Amino acid sequence: MLLLDYFSEPSPIMYLFLSLSTIWIIKYLYQSVKRLYSLPPGPFGIPIFGYYPFLKHHSYIQFDQLSKKYGPVFSLKLGQFDTFVVCGWDNLKDAFANDALLARPAKGFISGIENTLSVISMSGDAWREHRRLSLHVLRNVGLGKREMETLISEEIHQFLSSLETNVIDLPERQMPSVSNNISALLFGHIFDYNDPEKVSTGQIVARLCNIFQFTGITSYLPWLTKPLIFLGKANLKIIQKAQMHLNEFISREVSKHKNKVDSTEIEDYIDGYLNVQSKRKDEIFNDNVLRRNVITFFVAGSETVTSTLTWAIMYLVQYPQYQEKIRSEIKEAIGTEKRPDFSDRQKMPFTLAFLYEVQRIESIVATNLIRRASQDTKIGPYNVPKDSLVLFNFWSVHHDPKLWPNPDKFDPNRFLTDNGTKVVKPPYLVPFSAGKRACPGEGLANVELFLYTVGILQRFKIKSDKPLSFEAINGLTRRPKYKPDLIFEKISF
Ligand code: HEM
Repeated sequence: MLLLDYFSEPSPIMYLFLSLSTIWIIKYLYQSVKRLYSLPPGPFGIPIFGYYPFLKHHSYIQFDQLSKKYGPVFSLKLGQFDTFVVCGWDNLKDAFANDALLARPAKGFISGIENTLSVISMSGDAWREHRRLSLHVLRNVGLGKREMETLISEEIHQFLSSLETNVIDLPERQMPSVSNNISALLFGHIFDYNDPEKVSTGQIVARLCNIFQFTGITSYLPWLTKPLIFLGKANLKIIQKAQMHLNEFISREVSKHKNKVDSTEIEDYIDGYLNVQSKRKDEIFNDNVLRRNVITFFVAGSETVTSTLTWAIMYLVQYPQYQEKIRSEIKEAIGTEKRPDFSDRQKMPFTLAFLYEVQRIESIVATNLIRRASQDTKIGPYNVPKDSLVLFNFWSVHHDPKLWPNPDKFDPNRFLTDNGTKVVKPPYLVPFSAGKRACPGEGLANVELFLYTVGILQRFKIKSDKPLSFEAINGLTRRPKYKPDLIFEKISF
């Protein structure tokens, strides 16, 4: 029987099949339209890829512009995911407090390159347990304690002694010192600045930080990762190589810890994790996750602080009057001989205001690491269906003229009150995010930012013979695009 004959004399089964298919199609279309109507408005994209091909390098600025057209919360399809972008402070405040928005994309951020999730990319109970354990172990080995501050102070002393007069690549000089602070907590030791293994790891981390974005193709189009690696596209091979290098570097550290004679002594994060792993038999605690967690803390703890400090030094060069102002606070509060300590900040409101302003204007993490709705929920009046992705646009909030008059102007005084004698940090300055999934390194980062800035200015006048460019590249963080060419002049008060 020909196919046409079959359709011209439909059987009861065929009737049933056609009726069910029609009902299914109508239901699918109805649900799609209903879903589309229930989402806040936003720009359309193209099938399969959504709006992803139209995203610009500085997507946070593009999102800010789109929010002017579509509203403070808008939606768009990025790859296969409905994505919500939150640009307004009122809605962001709401989102921070929402427990249904604590998850990350189900496959993490580098699916197809590395499939073991770490504390930064886990969701649900696995994330809760790993975050609790990580912070517990890090605190036990010094995080947030006085000994940690002493260690950082000693590290800064070494760094300042190594500074030459001319510094062309400040981040490259600063990174080995900053990363020693987190290394002490993770590995129980620091590295010589010229240690070849550490130098090559530092270079690889710097490269990775330039080209990798959490909001990149591996998050939005995870199924494309492997074909693109095969084709050698989108820098994915470099990212893959960097991950392999980091995995090997950390695996060697873990092996050294496993071979320690006294395995009961907990001196650092790796010891603490191995100890818990040996007591608990659940699958979620294993060597792979340990390795990924250490990489996460190592990279997050080095790159972010280095980028912020580089911007801070550049603003000090651009505005020499602020160098002088901080130096006069140093003179008053610390003097010329004593090493600074973190408690000195209470007598140094302008220094804190300066660091807040650097963090606001540069917003080095411009959009939050992607969150996912773990159930149907709401942000303000907007319905957010389960498994939608959510981006918090810190850049928008930090540059909102309603919150910050003249937001593109670098002006630390905006944080000062009472004739400049008090510093106030408004709740809408959120460089570390906020809520239950806020950055766990905020305390450490604040100590480092203060002590490095003050330590440097206590010993050096910084200037440049060439005009500085404040153009940024947006990778793992926003960092300066061009290496600042700086001159460090030793001073005596
Ligand atoms: C200026 C420095 C830093 C900035 C601006 C910064 C910013 C951020 C931001 C915005 C997040 C995302 C939080 C969220 O999803 O809501 C984050 C997460 C994270 N940061 Fe930081 N960070 C800094 C320093 C550090 C340091 C020093 C460490 C290491 C101790 C660290 C470790 C982490 C980790 C592990 C996460 C993931 C937390 C989680 O998903 O539960 N960060 N950071």
